[in-house]
Amino acid sequence: MKFLVFFSTCVLGASAGLIDLDINILSAPTRAETRLVDAITTADYNTAVSLILLLEKQSSGSIIEDTVNNLIRDGNRNVLEFAYKLWIGEGKEIVKHYFPVQFRQVLSESNVKIINKRDNLAIKLGAATDSDNDRIAYGDANDKSSENVSWKLIPLWENNRVYFKIYSVRRHQYLKLGTATDGENDHSVYGDDRADTHRHQWYLKPAKLDSQVLFYIYNRQYNQALKLSRSVDSDGDRRAYSSSSSVEGQPELFGWSISIVN
Ligand SMILES: *[C@@H]1O[C@H](CO)[C@@H](O)[C@H](O)[C@H]1NC(C)=O
Repeated sequence: MKFLVFFSTCVLGASAGLIDLDINILSAPTRAETRLVDAITTADYNTAVSLILLLEKQSSGSIIEDTVNNLIRDGNRNVLEFAYKLWIGEGKEIVKHYFPVQFRQVLSESNVKIINKRDNLAIKLGAATDSDNDRIAYGDANDKSSENVSWKLIPLWENNRVYFKIYSVRRHQYLKLGTATDGENDHSVYGDDRADTHRHQWYLKPAKLDSQVLFYIYNRQYNQALKLSRSVDSDGDRRAYSSSSSVEGQPELFGWSISIVN
């Protein structure tokens, strides 16, 4: 008897290795979800894409939605890389159907406004230029809909990561961090005609605040996240800086909403 049990376990064990991806998902949707999370977490996006396409085929939309929402809730940056891979490949419809709307607004290179949660101000570039032809970036006191606060996020894929150039529709300039730091080790944010360094590239980390999807916006060169000053100028605007201290876990202070300008 004992021998028989042992024998059948062996057979199961041996065949388990041969089980095809398809069958696995059909018979064990929870396991598929775990494998999808593992693939995304380890940045194995090709496997993640294959898995999600299979799940989609098997009408497991709710599993996809749950998985994506859990990853966002956990602040997993890779979920955006994964969405980008889907978007440029076979999975654009999956992003449209099962990811929060903010993802397709970010990835579709639409005109978007970028508004900080704390003060509810939209990023713009000032009208004035300095001696380098750069413009200072502010959170605008009132405007949330004109071209002044419209941006395009232009993605680029490098080293298994997605970065964005952030392009001002009104000023035809790209958001960058200056090289200089202030007393708090923060950098100022400017618009620049060129976008030729990592200071001109940014990456987004999704964060959830109640039901709202926000993003921390990090500079590639300095790995500091975008914030607005606590002081207000005579126009009611706040200057944009990067934060030398960690912003993680504080979406209500350092999260930004990104949405289509309408
Ligand atoms: C846009 O910026 C210009 C300055 O270049 C300003 O005159 C105009 O009032 C701004 N528009 C809005 C809607 O704030």
